[in-house]
Amino acid sequence: MKREITVQVDGIPRRLTVDTHTTLLDALRERLGVTSPKKGCDHGQCGACTVLSGGRRVLSCLTLAVTQDGAEVVTAEGLAANVTTAGGQHANGDLHPVQRAFIDCDAFQCGYCTPGQVVSAVGALDEFAKGWPSAVTKGLGAPRLDRAEVAERMSGNLCRCAAYVNIVTAVRQAGGASPAQQAADRREAG
Ligand code: FES
Ligand code: FES
Repeated sequence: MKREITVQVDGIPRRLTVDTHTTLLDALRERLGVTSPKKGCDHGQCGACTVLSGGRRVLSCLTLAVTQDGAEVVTAEGLAANVTTAGGQHANGDLHPVQRAFIDCDAFQCGYCTPGQVVSAVGALDEFAKGWPSAVTKGLGAPRLDRAEVAERMSGNLCRCAAYVNIVTAVRQAGGASPAQQAADRREAG
């Protein structure tokens, strides 16, 4: 069965006809030419396909495209465009603060997982800013964006190059942790 849908992708309305079993990942990559979401496992295990839908992180390989009719989807490509994202408004062509932090902190090696990591980090920081607790949040007060919090909140995104140490540093930098705070935390962790 086919269905016509309209999805706002990175700020641009895109109209297409899809089979009802087509995933959002395949619709983006194969039908719309938006290739920053990567197909790693295609089974919801790696996070390489992560996009924002309505500002929330979703695995596009597990999301049917028909469920996104009328939705606003943002990929890693769109974070740098002139669109409103969880991280704020950016002039067209500027890097998103999370993208900038990944470059500053050398938070990638081959780069295959990076678009998913970056999008997931934007969603994670938005969840953190709203005060949502994670499985490692201690107590009821506002959580602190320490390394354990970031690692837990980013645990759905795998990196086969194991760039995790710098990914956590980058996410904390984008979240406002100062270099001095990061250095102190590293000393404390030994
Ligand atoms: S490709 Fe979607 S989680 Fe791996
Ligand atoms: S940088 Fe290579 S998989 Fe993450």
